Amino acid sequence: MSEGHPAVHADPTLRVLFTADQIAARVREMGLELARDFGDKRPLLVGVLKGACMFQCDLARATPIDLEMDFLAVSSYGSGTTSSGRVKLVMDLRTDITGRHVVLCEGVVDSGQSVQFILDLLRSRGAASLKVATLLDKVPCRTIPVPVDYAGWRIGSEFVIGYGLDAAERYRNLPYVGVLEEA
Ligand code: IMP
Ligand code: MG
Repeated sequence: MSEGHPAVHADPTLRVLFTADQIAARVREMGLELARDFGDKRPLLVGVLKGACMFQCDLARATPIDLEMDFLAVSSYGSGTTSSGRVKLVMDLRTDITGRHVVLCEGVVDSGQSVQFILDLLRSRGAASLKVATLLDKVPCRTIPVPVDYAGWRIGSEFVIGYGLDAAERYRNLPYVGVLEEA
């Protein structure tokens, strides 16, 4: 693990799950999948802040078609690592999505509550189509079945950090995805 983050690198409880190179390669593949599926439809990539920030920006750069980007933010977890079960919109889109092909970009789908809440909201605004892309899909944690159309990797129930994902706002800037293990 020599990815140049001395302070965190020294943390013995941090185990790398996906390296920066692995993420870049997978996101490139996902970008080509989007290009294949959307062609000249000019999709709107909607990033769910803050966790999707790295993924959305890399995915957009890996997708060699005309597209637009916008962002929204929801809150549900506070600073803990388990869901509070309540999802709230804390920042809205600026784009009118009526008739648009929307790709919701998430860093990780866990219980599915956030994605379900956002899909319900966007559906009510008349999007022409609505797809979900996530870097990580924690399949065993799902309590609400939500469609995941593009997934970087399906993983278990471990709490992951890095590449946009936080634990109490830390670790978002790691270029890789890791797991914090019990000391
Ligand atoms: P859900 O609503 O339970 O699917 O949770 C989705 C949101 O919870 C994500 O957008 C993340 O902000 C956060 N989250 C869930 N699991 C993790 C994790 O393993 N690491 C970091 N954040 C997580
Ligand atoms: Mg978080």
